[in-house]
Amino acid sequence: MDAVSEIKARLDLVEYIGRHTRLQKAGRNFRGLCPFHTEKTPSFYVFPDRGTWRCFGSCGDGGDLFSFAQKRENLDFRGALQQLANEAGVQLTAESAQKRGRAEKLMALMSAAVEFYQRCFREEGGAAARIYVYDRRGLKEETVQAFRIGWAPDEWRILRDYLGGRGYDERDMLAAGLLVEPESGGQPYDRFRGRIIIPIADERGQYVAMGGRGLHGEEPKYLNSPQTEIFDKGRTLFGLNVSSEAIRTEGVAVVVEGYMDVMGPWQAGFKNVVATMGTSLTEHHAGLLKRYAKRIVLAMDPDAAGLAAAERAGALFMSLESPEAMARSARSADELQGKTELELRVAPLPAGKDPDEIARDDPAAWASAISGARPYAEFLLTRLMGPTAPDSPVEARRIVDRLRPVLLAVKDPVERAMYVQRIARHLGVTEQSIMERIRPASTRRFVAPEPERRGEEGLAEQTLLAILVLHPALRSEFRIVPAALFTQGADREIFKRWIADDLPVGEDDSLLVRTNEIRATRLPPMTESEAATWAWKYRDAIARERQLEHHVAVSEVLSEAEHELGPKVVDEIASTAWLGGEPPEEHREVAETAIEVLQLGSSIHRRDEPGVAS
Ligand code: UTP
Ligand code: MN
Repeated sequence: MDAVSEIKARLDLVEYIGRHTRLQKAGRNFRGLCPFHTEKTPSFYVFPDRGTWRCFGSCGDGGDLFSFAQKRENLDFRGALQQLANEAGVQLTAESAQKRGRAEKLMALMSAAVEFYQRCFREEGGAAARIYVYDRRGLKEETVQAFRIGWAPDEWRILRDYLGGRGYDERDMLAAGLLVEPESGGQPYDRFRGRIIIPIADERGQYVAMGGRGLHGEEPKYLNSPQTEIFDKGRTLFGLNVSSEAIRTEGVAVVVEGYMDVMGPWQAGFKNVVATMGTSLTEHHAGLLKRYAKRIVLAMDPDAAGLAAAERAGALFMSLESPEAMARSARSADELQGKTELELRVAPLPAGKDPDEIARDDPAAWASAISGARPYAEFLLTRLMGPTAPDSPVEARRIVDRLRPVLLAVKDPVERAMYVQRIARHLGVTEQSIMERIRPASTRRFVAPEPERRGEEGLAEQTLLAILVLHPALRSEFRIVPAALFTQGADREIFKRWIADDLPVGEDDSLLVRTNEIRATRLPPMTESEAATWAWKYRDAIARERQLEHHVAVSEVLSEAEHELGPKVVDEIASTAWLGGEPPEEHREVAETAIEVLQLGSSIHRRDEPGVAS
């Protein structure tokens, strides 16, 4: 048995997880509150048979004993292995020691390559590289040394021959991503040729990868080491080895997207910067930074293609594309913050400029952007709100509707209340009116229409009721219409009383005032038969509106589920259910919602087709 299986066999998963959250038996499995996010109803399951766990709530995470320990204790796999091995009393075998040995070996190899490329940068052949780095990019000697910038000569096998001559194994060079194997067979050759070398280290300063920038606009602009045994882009932050000290002293880590965006600010005296190498920030990145900082300031372009496309689980989704995308963005930030207990802020950088340029051309602007960074949700809300106050109630309402998805993504009630307060001030409306307008159509499935809502829709209802009240002859054909068509309690009552031919007359009837209001509604003149046509038209319009509203509400529930479980899973659940299959207990609600969305969608669609009477 290998160490991993032996540890799993010796440790009781339920007991281990049970130390972090109270678990209760649920059939063959166990259930409790998710230890990785705050929730009121337990959606976290442990499956002892399979030796796995999963949260069906908003984090959607899952895994085995090891991934639990990694997440819970914020360890990498090696760390978790060590800790769990101690606990289980399992001696880590030669094999795992060997594995560790192998990583060290590859890192030593990488280090030798870094040194070689550094030397090439200094030699005669590196003249063009030096001109580019010092003159074109304006880097200073100090920066070049701190980041150990190098030059890979434009030759096919210079690194291979050099390292080979020093006794390094060619297979290791391949495994470290320094060499490429020709598809047609033949001799492996150097991956990096004719490029400026930017070494990438882990947080301990051990070299794990490198990026190579072309000098003359080659494609790709940066050629990077591939994913290897020692390099995972999603777990590595460029510059952390150089910046960790400053990050610790300032308590703030600034995260940018690129190599130059770390080195430029560094040279300008801003030394607390790291880069994600063109991808979005992952949970692992955040976990690394958490050791040094309490706050992360993002100084990256939210709509950079790389970021929008980056949808790895647990990665920050950044987008300003639409209010819905921004809501997703806010949810993913909220999640990341909840999991890591880090505060995520966004620096408002002038559009179209790299951190590299800003920090060097205008250090004051950089400093104020970083210190003026706003909390993630606030940044999005400010964007959505626009700079000027609205000039009409309709405009104000529109703004509130636009803000709604992002506000709902803010889970913490105190934080949300604070934003509402600010928005209210900006829009010149009461906090309560905003609260009411954004109140979640909620995760409940059937949404009671908001009774206090008036406006056009309320008008349609009032008009319909007025036509009915003034045309008692319509009573028999309208008996089939449910009173629930009317949103307001009073109107519902009046409709029922009209059906019963019992409209209020007496002064002491509490419905009299509203009934008179209805009677006083201004209607165009109409004949009895026109009245019938109009009444039915109004009924249809109201029903359709209601259905659309409901469709929006259930779709929202579904997209929430997609966010939690992933679109593929939801798709699978929905099609299983659609075909009459039984989805597992924990997915039943999602399945029902999905089916409802499909049915509503098609019925609304049917109504859209001309010539089909409803
Ligand atoms: P940018 O294109 O913004 O690069 O990509 P940059 O850092 O500003 O580089 P300069 O100033 O043009 O030299 C941001 C980051 O995305 C990754 C790199 O990590 C880069 O720093 N990237 C970009 C690649 O890995 N490959 C590419 O071809 C381009
Ligand atoms: Mn740049």
